[in-house]
Amino acid sequence: MELPILETLRFLSFWRLALLSIGLFQFCRTIYFFSRWVYVYFIRSPKCLLHYGKWAIVTGAAKGIGKAVAVEMARKGLNLVLVDRELELLKEVASEIKAEEPRVEILTVDFDLNGDIGDGVRRLGMAIEGLDVGVLVNNAGVSYRVPMFLHEVGEEMFRELEKVNLTSLTEITQLVLGMMVKKKKGAIVNLGSGSASVTPSYPMFAVYTATKGYVDQLSRCLHVEYKNFGIDIQCQVPLFVVTEMVPDKKENFFNPMPEQYAPPVLRAIGYGCSVIPYWRQSFQNYLSTFCLVPIFNENLLYAALRRRAYYPVD
Ligand SMILES: NC(=O)c1ccc[n+]([C@@H]2O[C@H](COP(=O)([O-])OP(=O)(O)OC[C@H]3O[C@@H](n4cnc5c(N)ncnc54)[C@H](OP(=O)(O)O)[C@@H]3O)[C@@H](O)[C@H]2O)c1
Repeated sequence: MELPILETLRFLSFWRLALLSIGLFQFCRTIYFFSRWVYVYFIRSPKCLLHYGKWAIVTGAAKGIGKAVAVEMARKGLNLVLVDRELELLKEVASEIKAEEPRVEILTVDFDLNGDIGDGVRRLGMAIEGLDVGVLVNNAGVSYRVPMFLHEVGEEMFRELEKVNLTSLTEITQLVLGMMVKKKKGAIVNLGSGSASVTPSYPMFAVYTATKGYVDQLSRCLHVEYKNFGIDIQCQVPLFVVTEMVPDKKENFFNPMPEQYAPPVLRAIGYGCSVIPYWRQSFQNYLSTFCLVPIFNENLLYAALRRRAYYPVD
């Protein structure tokens, strides 16, 4: 006796059968992607960061995401090399961490990434010589204080974006990779941005966005280049996180405080080459795919112009 469903299918026309198959395929695909998403954000175990090495370097560690990531790494038992341009602030962060995690060793390196990069890299190299560095977080970054048209971006800002977001990140990565290649393990996290990796454009932040596009693509290439050396390199893509970089953003369902954002950063290390670590922002990104690109772009432009009205260009 045949199953009633097979009997019904036999009487369907070719086109109806084809449409049904496509629908079924799409349904299975959606179930697969949803299950994978749930697995990645809620079930998958994070990698043991100590397996990469005992020390982690975090740049831009005095504030914002960098500071929160450093605190979280100390909680996992990693010793820290904190890099930023304000030594006093770095020392304060180091004592805060020490007070919470007394067993962790902390070194501070004052390095102005917008200054003499060669000298800074040399001093960082001396500070980490002989240490078992397992993780590097290239977090330091700069953006414009207010949205600007390209012709308004001054020479000084332009150079700062280039030196902090591109040159120093690349040179510090080069320095640390040399050590990681020798021991055949390590993890490097480069902080990108949703403006470059998620949205179709990010008007009035063009140069900043382009620097983050560089970070994303650099990470994708290095991910492939160094995989066989046992080194996991990735670009992590924040959307908005409430820090000094985005003074007009308030905490809400999609915009976390750095302390909320840091644990997902650690959970994602070692998985994938370009990732949105925070589940709510991954969901936000999914929702944004329903918006038509020209409408999305217009909205971003008007949001930038509105923001500029509150924070006029100097
Ligand atoms: N917050 C967001 O919504 C968001 C969104 C997308 C991507 N990101 C990326 O996430 C990363 C961290 O951003 P954040 O929001 O935490 O920013 P933040 O609060 O401004 O912190 C950035 C840190 O980097 C340091 N830094 C800046 N210029 C430096 C220099 N020349 N030399 C040494 N250190 C320097 C800053 O020190 P000073 O305070 O002394 O400048 C600060 O400690 C950045 O790469 C940013 O592009 C952030």
